[in-house]
Amino acid sequence: MSFGGAAPVALVKLELAGFRSYQSLAWPVPPGVTLLTGANGAGKTNLLEAVHYAALLRSFRTRNLQELRRWDSPGFSLVATLGGDGLTRQLRVTQQQERSLQVDGVPIIRASDFINHFLAVAFIPEDIGLVKGPASERRRFLDILGSQLDAGYLRALSEYNQVLRQRNALLRQYAQFGDRALEAFDQQLVAFGAAIIQRRLLLVEELRPELEESGRQFFGDGSLLARYTPVTGTESGLETLTARLFDLLVKNRDREKRDGVTLVGPHRDELLLTLDTRPLAAFGSEGQCRTTALALRLASYRLLQRQAGDQRGLILLVDDVLGELDAVRRRTFLDLIRQCPQALITVTTADECAPWADQVVTVHDGAVN
Ligand SMILES: Nc1ncnc2c1ncn2[C@@H]1O[C@H](COP(=O)(O)OP(=O)(O)O)[C@@H](O)[C@H]1O
Ligand SMILES: [Mg+2]
Repeated sequence: MSFGGAAPVALVKLELAGFRSYQSLAWPVPPGVTLLTGANGAGKTNLLEAVHYAALLRSFRTRNLQELRRWDSPGFSLVATLGGDGLTRQLRVTQQQERSLQVDGVPIIRASDFINHFLAVAFIPEDIGLVKGPASERRRFLDILGSQLDAGYLRALSEYNQVLRQRNALLRQYAQFGDRALEAFDQQLVAFGAAIIQRRLLLVEELRPELEESGRQFFGDGSLLARYTPVTGTESGLETLTARLFDLLVKNRDREKRDGVTLVGPHRDELLLTLDTRPLAAFGSEGQCRTTALALRLASYRLLQRQAGDQRGLILLVDDVLGELDAVRRRTFLDLIRQCPQALITVTTADECAPWADQVVTVHDGAVN
């Protein structure tokens, strides 16, 4: 688990109050691979969701914050403590009317300064949407991964989204404001947009070998590929991307005025997934799509581990995914998981997977034992 010397950074404690089914919980989170067992509805997924929320201020199940608060509670609080490598760090989220954030007792204003103190990658059944779902899911996958690797990615993204929102608002009231106002936004949109495209191109390039390896492990000979296909084409020089994006904006101006929305840019781009050159979204079987989603998550986990996992701590969350895999792939996946410094895996019966785990805990009646 550790490579001599200090233990790697890991999540050492999770405290919940009024979060989902948990009235009050203080759980010393073990290092290594932990299997969480317990009846349906016991609260296993809720635990993983809490860890994910502490890392990313995002649930993997809902966008509606209200769902996270226990039904009989006015709000929730969540404390995640990191330890190892001579470090302890306490991350606290308190959600009442407003959300307040603290790191080591110091109030944090911006979510971007709170998230990704540690890194979490979740494997959930809904991940099949990464393959079968709309392009927005694949863009989100890239954007979250990019932001985990580099805070600059997140900044660039929020700058772009802000200008995009303003420009769209303007387009909706175009008759009132006219061309001048629109043009004032174009430069910024194009500059931020090209920066995002460039970052995504680089990210997908970095992800490529990891995805190839995961693909080989799950598909044998089949060659799994992810290709980012921005509207600008893939030539990665920033100047070229900027110039192309600007041209496209000008070309589409009349349509944009008519539709009242920005039609070209990284908010519309696609990450194309192919197996042996065939697009999976169109041709993949259910099993192939599930396996591809798994391979994507695994690839992102490996990239994070290689680039950032040692310093920040990286936790793997696996919810109800094992049951979907055939026996061979499940074994492959479990073999890979075994090497993770920290993983939480939900299962309904532990028997089969127990040999791969460092410990098995039971979730029951709002407690973890
Ligand atoms: N906001 C909430 N307040 C109270 N209980 C909740 C809330 N959201 C979900 N639950 C309860 O949590 C349980 C589901 O927990 P979950 O972690 O999904 O179970 P599982 O162990 O099957 O993964 C259900 O019993 C549900 O009623
Ligand atoms: Mg569950």
